[in-house]
Amino acid sequence: MIDVDSARQVLRDNDRGGHTVPTDGLYPFQWSWDSAITALGWFTFDEARAWQEADTMFAGQWDNGMLPHILFHGDSGTYFPGPDIWGSNTVVPSSAISQPPVWATAIRRMVETATDRELAMSSLKRLLPRLVDYHDWWYRDRDRAGSGLVRSYHPWESGMDNSPAWDEPLARVPEIEWSYQRRDLGHVDQEQRPHKAQYDRYLYLVDFYKKHDFDSDVIYRDCPYRVIDIGIVAILQRAGRDLIELCRLGGRDDAIHRISDELERTEAAIQRLWSPNHRCFFNFDIVADTALEEITTGTVLPLFGGLANEEQADAMAALVDDWLSASAFGVASTYPESPRYEPQRYWRGPVWVHINWMIAEGLRDYGYTELADRVKQAARECIDTSGFYEYFDATSGAGCGGGSFSWTAAVALYWLAN
Ligand code: DGY
Repeated sequence: MIDVDSARQVLRDNDRGGHTVPTDGLYPFQWSWDSAITALGWFTFDEARAWQEADTMFAGQWDNGMLPHILFHGDSGTYFPGPDIWGSNTVVPSSAISQPPVWATAIRRMVETATDRELAMSSLKRLLPRLVDYHDWWYRDRDRAGSGLVRSYHPWESGMDNSPAWDEPLARVPEIEWSYQRRDLGHVDQEQRPHKAQYDRYLYLVDFYKKHDFDSDVIYRDCPYRVIDIGIVAILQRAGRDLIELCRLGGRDDAIHRISDELERTEAAIQRLWSPNHRCFFNFDIVADTALEEITTGTVLPLFGGLANEEQADAMAALVDDWLSASAFGVASTYPESPRYEPQRYWRGPVWVHINWMIAEGLRDYGYTELADRVKQAARECIDTSGFYEYFDATSGAGCGGGSFSWTAAVALYWLAN
């Protein structure tokens, strides 16, 4: 059974005064999508603290609207690569890429369920212009041709770093030529983390942005890694709908038409990435001009984004049902029949509770209530078996990665409260 007090204690322990670290040591800063999901957990017992989480994050927003994936509040010797490697010289030191845009979704829920209405409305007034700028940035900067499908430039931007979906596009990225010391392996067994060959390329991309002075035009055209990430597209779509509701409440009618047009464009464009044979949407490699035919949890997130038609939703629900039959501990991050499936290695197989939350929400929206409940129940088994880990071995439910992990505790609190 999930224990509310222990879940709350995880957030308190990871609170660094205004922002919550995902876990001590391994991730000692503020990560954008972690922070948004963690805010939902705070909100179940401390609304003011949840709003503060959002304010701290948006204080690090770039002038062009981009919300960085990491804000480096202070120094830490336990994480690599830090702000010196990113070199972005922002007021709040930060990385130079973004992450799945969950914020508008989190903030809509906070506004709609707030008991302190006054605090909610004053927070919305402060945050709404920033949220609109953030979404505008995605469409303006990452979809310059108005195709309806935003681009992503780094596997870290997907949040699903070493997913097999990125193997081919990442393999084409050159390796860096300088040596470095990883810090993650001082916290977590290497069997549960990405390989060096992947890190060499992750870092090449970081150098690439810096070398080109973070020039969006150059990166859009020449970045050696450019993909359409179905997970990001789907999360942005749901967040866009949530943002429209926030704009209604906050009197930003001017933004509503613009965002609605973008949502319509995405709804039409994503159809090109549907694979009826595989019963999901596929990520797309822009550089090689080819679909990335790997079934991962990201490829069924159009359920969460409301991007599937009825037939597609039905096919994806059947796929999730099959998927679930392979594990009593939730939907594994890679489809278990894939030859690249590794049940313990980060995004190549383990179960992630926040992604199972998204899949369950999407299934419920499409009317698959019983299956949604089963996904949720199976993911809860992970926590019951092992506690609030970062991710879980899909075959045994054993905890993997960092322990006392904020978003796992936050989703548990959210589930208990709803
Ligand atoms: C890491 O360092 O493992 C992170 O996923 C990068 O965001």
